Amino acid sequence: MATYLQSQCRPTPRFPLVLAGLYASSTANSVNAYCSSAPSSAPRITQKWKTIGKTPRRLVLGFGASFWAQSLNMSAPFGGSGKFLASARPSSSIDQVLKNVEWPEQFPFKDEDFLRFDESPDSLFYEAPRFVTHIDDSAIRALTKYYSEVLPPSNTPGVSILDMCSSWVSHYPAGYKQERIVGMGMNEDELKRNPVLTEYVVQDLNVNPNLPFEDNSFDVITNVVSVDYLTKPLDVFREMRRILKPGGLAIMSFSNRCFWTKAISIWTSTGDTDHVMIIGAYFHYTGGFEPPQAVDISPNPGRSDPMYIVYSRKLNTA
Ligand SMILES: C[S@@+](CC[C@H](N)C(=O)[O-])C[C@H]1O[C@@H](n2cnc3c(N)ncnc32)[C@H](O)[C@@H]1O
Repeated sequence: MATYLQSQCRPTPRFPLVLAGLYASSTANSVNAYCSSAPSSAPRITQKWKTIGKTPRRLVLGFGASFWAQSLNMSAPFGGSGKFLASARPSSSIDQVLKNVEWPEQFPFKDEDFLRFDESPDSLFYEAPRFVTHIDDSAIRALTKYYSEVLPPSNTPGVSILDMCSSWVSHYPAGYKQERIVGMGMNEDELKRNPVLTEYVVQDLNVNPNLPFEDNSFDVITNVVSVDYLTKPLDVFREMRRILKPGGLAIMSFSNRCFWTKAISIWTSTGDTDHVMIIGAYFHYTGGFEPPQAVDISPNPGRSDPMYIVYSRKLNTA
């Protein structure tokens, strides 16, 4: 099935000084942080970003993609994911990004970082169902395999899971079941068709970030390729902390695709490595979570969509 998300690397370039500052204290390997490659015909800016050791970090921003194409289709914009440069990065670099980060005292992002190119109500954008997948089959398989290793075994008594920003698929292992699996999303037709859900809630988290659930009631929260659409991430992450049981696991996964007009500016102007830092920052500044960790589960670097996880557990004391 064709994938549906476009690369996020289109909008107005911004120099991510904030993230560069964060990196200065990270022990991450020196790697080039790239967005997906732009086609040779598209105007392109290569911006020297940050030098760590001898290796310059660069931010490559591509322009010229069709706005309309993206609103209909989030597939890889420049002829498929196989060409993308994310593959040039050794997978271990992502795994290292959140190790030994010295976070600034204050949340380093500004209000403008959470603006989108399209600020019309999200309910309009998600009005029509999209029965598509947003990452390619290999990336989905990698995510499902990851879930099979970290989710509670199927049919474990008392287990509740929330799939945030859900659709008609959650990518859990085939036949996966729990007493309670709630999907939250924007499109009822999609959620209705999701076979793994035992219930669903349609709610715009950018309008109302409060999660309509009891304190300490979920074992796991998943969010697949959608954390970049949250304009009030700290409010949502605070709510995630509230509803997770102590020790509960939050798994944010992402690739290098998105509906870029709907993704927040700090996401669309930065690359995969930065995205790890952004999600890590959400956990860190929310508080009450273990230090977040990143895993690169990209299945075939360079030949399929990359797939990354940033996860954390609610502290037992939170
Ligand atoms: C790219 S799709 C991913 C869907 C699903 N997680 C998957 O992997 O197929 C983005 C999802 O984010 C959800 N979403 C986007 N904006 C949202 C918002 N403001 N509030 C709640 N959910 C939102 C939509 O319901 C949509 O299904």
